Amino acid sequence: TQYETILLDRKGRTGLITLNRPKALNALNLRVMEEVIDAATTLDRDPDVGCIVVTGSERAFAAGADIKEMQPNDYMDVYLADWFSAWDRLGEVRKPTVAAVAGYALGGGCELAMLCDVLIAADTAVFGQPEIKLGVIPGIGGSQRLTRAVGKAKAMELCLTGRTMDAAEAERAGLVSRIVPAADLLSEALALAETIANMSTPIAMMVKESVNRAFETTLAEGVRFERRVFHATFATADQKEGMAAFTEKRPPSFVNR
Ligand code: HXC
Repeated sequence: TQYETILLDRKGRTGLITLNRPKALNALNLRVMEEVIDAATTLDRDPDVGCIVVTGSERAFAAGADIKEMQPNDYMDVYLADWFSAWDRLGEVRKPTVAAVAGYALGGGCELAMLCDVLIAADTAVFGQPEIKLGVIPGIGGSQRLTRAVGKAKAMELCLTGRTMDAAEAERAGLVSRIVPAADLLSEALALAETIANMSTPIAMMVKESVNRAFETTLAEGVRFERRVFHATFATADQKEGMAAFTEKRPPSFVNR
């Protein structure tokens, strides 16, 4: 496929999507949205891929939805086209996804990072939902996912004032799993992704589905769901292999079945 706004690479069992609109600080226009979704969907279907990394540039993961593209639209335009609903498809990717964030992750950029399963940040990362300064509100799930990630008080403050937070504050608040030096961001993200990709991929998909249940249901239902999925792992070849390998004191050789 010919992509204009992203780069698509493969490193081992990891698929790497790099946002590539440097002059616009990776602002997310509709083309970027279509290309990221197309690439992620393609990688999700590829049996040789076990994890997907989404990253940007040193200066910007993404500085938001494309304000210049949004500006001329009125209510009926964005309502009828159901603007930004297509991003939901990224959240429906079944394999684990990692956002590797350096520089600005603002508005839609922060929301894109939060659509991924694991968020790792360079020490240069800057997060925020500044939509209110433009007279709009978050539109790719930010008011919901940021609140679940950092709690009501901080999410309210960030969305109501548009102020940004640095990587250290984002880590303290639980938005990011880990901070790394900017120079190491991509290699750390790829190493993390490859660790995940070398687990049994169907089991990793079951982990993802189960953790995500925590955001969709009650504790009792979530625990019940987890238990059923846990039982189902015993129907896989990889459970047999993983436990045999432990018993035989050797590394497992998963077949992703
Ligand atoms: C379109 C953008 C952009 C954006 C930056 N650019 N962000 N274009 N949409 N979101 C463009 C600039 O216009 C400029 O283009 C070029 O990228 C470089 O940006 P500068 O502003 O010159 O860089 P700098 O001074 O370093 O400032 C960086 C910045 C600032 C602090 C990140 O660009 C900024 O505040 N951007 C907007 C951030 C924002 O509000 N994001 C939320 C968007 S709303 P030219 O052509 O002038 O060189 C959103 C809503 C989601 O995401 C859904 C709800 C509707």
